[in-house]
Amino acid sequence: MKGLVLSGGTGTRLQPFTWSTPKQLIPVANRPLLSFILWALQKVGIAQAGIITGDEGLERIPHKLEGQIPPALELTYIRQVGPLGLAHAVKTAHSFLGEDDFMMVLGDNIFDLSLGEAVAVFKQTGADALLFLTPVDDPQRYGIAEVRDGQILSLVEKPVTPRSNLAIMGIYLLSKAIFPAIDRTRPSARGELEITDALQELLNMGGKIVPYLYRGWWLDVGKPEDVLAANRKMLDLLLGTVPADNCSVGLSSSVTDSTLRGPLIIGEGCRITNAILGPYCAIGRGSVIENARIMESVVCEDVEICNLEAQLYKSIIAENARIQGQSEGGANVRLLLGAGSSIIL
Ligand code: DAU
Repeated sequence: MKGLVLSGGTGTRLQPFTWSTPKQLIPVANRPLLSFILWALQKVGIAQAGIITGDEGLERIPHKLEGQIPPALELTYIRQVGPLGLAHAVKTAHSFLGEDDFMMVLGDNIFDLSLGEAVAVFKQTGADALLFLTPVDDPQRYGIAEVRDGQILSLVEKPVTPRSNLAIMGIYLLSKAIFPAIDRTRPSARGELEITDALQELLNMGGKIVPYLYRGWWLDVGKPEDVLAANRKMLDLLLGTVPADNCSVGLSSSVTDSTLRGPLIIGEGCRITNAILGPYCAIGRGSVIENARIMESVVCEDVEICNLEAQLYKSIIAENARIQGQSEGGANVRLLLGAGSSIIL
């Protein structure tokens, strides 16, 4: 079985962050989102994976993933001409995938990494496809599966009037049967070749699609709130909740006259002075935090935050940003800053 990770697309809802970084590289617990998916693929025994990207991703992703790729996973980058849809991306990867079954994961999804059981079900049932499903509160935002007695009846992308609340997660187990189904699929109203429509086509052709109810947690990271939630979940998962041991500080970092509240991660080469950090902070490599209080935030690499009276909370600060405090006092502040921003509060 091969892996296919979809990392094209634009990420407009995460601007200004995504002006400088494809959203699949957003750091969560100080690692690019994509890297968690690669480890999950390796965990189920996948040795070869393709990463679909646009031109911008091709420039940035290989560099950002250096040192973050599981050793036993061979990666192939596959250029998609534009974000023409998930089924278009699969079609683009056809020569890489050949006749093999494959696990496809959307590059902006994060989950608690337990995919092995579904792979076993896919193999045992000899299905053409297996879909990871999970109940959601807002079914209009997702591909939705109508399931009765363990059978999928219909698959609809972002339905106006949903027939169920079972969302198709961004994790799919697929076989070569998907390719003729994609060939019969036409672009949707939003102009994309939808994988949900291709799967409905596969159903129409008599293909066997198995529903798999996922019991772990899962997030489709599209908005700032999702980045913060993913950061919290991953810090909990990686560091645990025992206060004495859930602060991870990079080897060459210094922490002076400061209070650290876990779960919290500080990358290499940071200087933390007279600060109160956490819980749920990730501070990227090379950052300087001085006379400041930060909680529940993602701070990327080489950021400087100094002399803040106000507490920074639920913020996302992209690399090389500078935040300086000047005025006395001040309420809590929430910021979403793009790379290289400079702000005086
Ligand atoms: O997250 C689950 C949902 O993902 C499913 O419920 C939907 O059925 C599925 O269509 C998808 O919906 P989204 O609207 O969230 O997809 P989005 O456009 O955000 O793209 C998902 C990922 O795939 C993202 O990492 C970008 C990448 N992508 C997207 C397109 C359109 C590509 O690599 N190529 C593309 O052409």
